[in-house]
Amino acid sequence: MASPEVENLQAVPAHVAIIMDGNGRWALARGLPRLAGHRAGTENLRRVIEACIEFGIQYLTIYAFSTENWGRPEEEVQGLMKIFEDVIDRELQELHDQGVQMRHIGRLDRLSPEFRQKVLHALEYTKHNTRLILNVAFNYGGRDEIVNAIQCMIRDGLQPEEITVEVVNRYLFTAGVPDPDLIIRTSGELRGSNFLIWQGAYSEWYFPPVYWPDFDKEQLRLALEEYSHRERRYGRVSPVSNTTST
Ligand code: FPP
Repeated sequence: MASPEVENLQAVPAHVAIIMDGNGRWALARGLPRLAGHRAGTENLRRVIEACIEFGIQYLTIYAFSTENWGRPEEEVQGLMKIFEDVIDRELQELHDQGVQMRHIGRLDRLSPEFRQKVLHALEYTKHNTRLILNVAFNYGGRDEIVNAIQCMIRDGLQPEEITVEVVNRYLFTAGVPDPDLIIRTSGELRGSNFLIWQGAYSEWYFPPVYWPDFDKEQLRLALEEYSHRERRYGRVSPVSNTTST
């Protein structure tokens, strides 16, 4: 059941994806180390997940760590790994109780065996939940995902004429998940940064000028309100202009 705050919206997106940007700048503005920003961002994620459930969003995809983020200073990479591992230890039961199904998109191969085991356990533990599907993009890159899909199609012996949009969809990490309706990037940066580059072909984009730790429930409501006024044409013409022209 959607919350009363969104009842008068014309359309609530089924799938929202978020580039959680600005943790570092949030920390810098307060004279804190960057990892303090990532910790504040993690706290905020919990609040945003709750708000998504309240607003009746079915799928939430979050960009947690990209294939390019390995290039950050070692201390930050290790700090982020520790934060992710701690989140699983601390939050898994709560997420499960809230009916959240965790999924992973990307590759798990560079993780320590213990961390990988924790991730696999979290996916297995929550796999029957249906209230919110939470796709965690971790060690994820859109180009890497497409390369992986092509490699798998070739390995499976697919012939060129068998390769269609639907078949490619089935080979992506997001197989079975509808394309994101709305992609939000916080912090005012206006880039896609290798996130869902195939799936986002017709997504609506929204760029709130706040750092991720400050993107609260009201900010999400504003994003949904803005989305509800967008007209999605998928390359076609508006039904209104269509009517008036005939
Ligand atoms: C971008 O901010 C954020 C990240 C690269 C990491 C995102 C991770 C979290 C929000 C932690 C919570 C996630 C999970 C799955 C527990 P930035 O460092 O690029 O910020 P900046 O552009 O201001 O430097």
